Amino acid sequence: MGSSAGILGTGSELPEKVVTNADLEKLVDTSDQWITDRTGIKERRQARADQTTSELSIHAARKALDMAGITARELDLIICSTISPDMPLPSTAAFIQRGLGASACCAFDLAAACSGFLFGVTVAEQFIKNGKARYVLVIGAELLSRYIDYRDRATCVIFGDGVAAAVLGPVAEPHGILASEMHTDGQFADHLYIPAGGTTRPASCETVQGREHYIKMKGNELFKVAVRSLEEVSRRVLEQAKVCPEQLSLFIPHQANQRITDAVRQRLGVSVEKVYSNISRVGNTSSASIPICLDECIRNGQTKKGDLVLMAAFGAGVTWGGILMRY
Ligand SMILES: CC(C)(COP(=O)(O)OP(=O)(O)OC[C@H]1O[C@@H](n2cnc3c(N)ncnc32)[C@H](O)[C@@H]1OP(=O)(O)O)[C@@H](O)C(=O)NCCC(=O)NCCS
Repeated sequence: MGSSAGILGTGSELPEKVVTNADLEKLVDTSDQWITDRTGIKERRQARADQTTSELSIHAARKALDMAGITARELDLIICSTISPDMPLPSTAAFIQRGLGASACCAFDLAAACSGFLFGVTVAEQFIKNGKARYVLVIGAELLSRYIDYRDRATCVIFGDGVAAAVLGPVAEPHGILASEMHTDGQFADHLYIPAGGTTRPASCETVQGREHYIKMKGNELFKVAVRSLEEVSRRVLEQAKVCPEQLSLFIPHQANQRITDAVRQRLGVSVEKVYSNISRVGNTSSASIPICLDECIRNGQTKKGDLVLMAAFGAGVTWGGILMRY
């Protein structure tokens, strides 16, 4: 029997502070009814001002390492997917490596927004399969509240903070990653973006006054692209592995909007009890979304060894990806 790359342990960390729809009603012209009906979100988490992306990541990573039964020193690589890093330079992964005491390994950040965790797992899979690494830590970490304009009702109701990690390593077949895909289409790059703070618009009084350091989103247009891409990529990884939707034990779609999840589920023909959703209490945590779900499913026993799990993500770029694995 051969070996492939699989998930050995997971961990997640949510900030304590809960922001309810009622809290947001006090900040912008919105209502609990609108947010619930249009997104499925009831509450989301918000990090304290003194918490950082790397700090929460270190907590989540320790839980994942514990479940995997390995130490940080055994890691060969750390990949941190984030669009809300501690600072532009150096990478958040470097702070995570230092905090974990994972001195022997390489560490870098990956920027693919909400698809970043799946991109990271796919990159990790290549390193493990070709023998360049044995244990890889992949983290999806976002403190999006730092980039949210709490005057913009189109975005502040959707996004939340959260972090999750997974340790990947060799597993005996038939377990492990069975199929994976990653895609990007820069045509839609201006559908979801932060205009300033980079080389295009370096930080200035003007960019701050213009509120250009916050996330801007064309939600309506993204909705259609998201449903189409999530369906397509899900079908492709299922086909690659010759698995039909009825054989799935669990489908974890990126938690962008409950209506997107429902539409994709219906198009794929996956039964409702096989689709995991935590958007009502976590919101959209970008690259942390899928690993938080996965960690919850593993810890609450909803995912057991041998289960076929499909994960599909969509995000800014636009990027999208899918992974089918046997846990
Ligand atoms: C953002 C999103 C929830 C908006 O829902 P929607 O049903 O598409 O709503 P629309 O943008 O068409 O707006 C409908 C109306 O609600 C209003 N509205 C927008 N946000 C609102 C809010 N928070 N509260 C109340 N009304 C709101 C709009 O102004 C608009 O009013 P109008 O008809 O008077 O112009 C939805 O488009 C979405 O989830 N898009 C995908 C987001 C996504 O996938 N992001 C990237 C992936 S990570």
